[in-house]
Amino acid sequence: MSNSTFIAPSILAADIGRLGEEVASVVSAGADWIHVDVMDGTFVPPITFGANVVQSLRRQTKTFLDVHLMIVEPERHFQAFKDAGADRLIIHQETCPHLHRSLSAIRSLGIKNGVAINPGTPVEAVYDVLDVCDLVLVMTVNPGWGGQAFIPGCLGKVRELQARIQSSSSPAIIEVDGGISADTAPHCRNAGARAFVAGSFIFGAQDRAEAIKRLRS
Ligand code: DX5
Ligand code: ZN
Repeated sequence: MSNSTFIAPSILAADIGRLGEEVASVVSAGADWIHVDVMDGTFVPPITFGANVVQSLRRQTKTFLDVHLMIVEPERHFQAFKDAGADRLIIHQETCPHLHRSLSAIRSLGIKNGVAINPGTPVEAVYDVLDVCDLVLVMTVNPGWGGQAFIPGCLGKVRELQARIQSSSSPAIIEVDGGISADTAPHCRNAGARAFVAGSFIFGAQDRAEAIKRLRS
């Protein structure tokens, strides 16, 4: 497993009317990836962005687009998000009865995949797909909204998963998402996380470069 750290600002917390400037601001502040939270109003109550927003982002930046699909039947949209320019599609274990096949389908489009698990989902639910998986997103809040409090009970899953990945030949890295700040990120890092999604902590900061630097260290 790589020791690099990836900081992924979530545009859910950006000023959407000025999305281009907001993305440019976090990229120049040191963001490694841009995290795009796609919500369908069914798997989670809110509705957010579609592939057209990913396409606009792609025109604006070369930065890696980490697309988090909080949608039912995500397979129906893989091609559209790939064509729009997504670099990674993350699907939820809870929405995918054929998870192994769905993860393989994303890879076969020539882009990275990822699988996310909610706080209420046991980590063992992804053990049998680690061999076809580039990233596991351990949700540290219940998905749907930014600005929620970090759930410390999720850290145990990061620890267990890290041990499991290390004893396997999986290339997967662990990402955490929800309530990530300079206070909570170190606990996640110690548990084995290498990718950190942060919405309000970065977009709400006076100095976004400083916020990203604090998350990274
Ligand atoms: C929640 C989303 C997160 C969200 C995180 O469903 O998946 O990516 O934007 O927001 P913060 O960092 O504010 O908790
Ligand atoms: Zn997310």
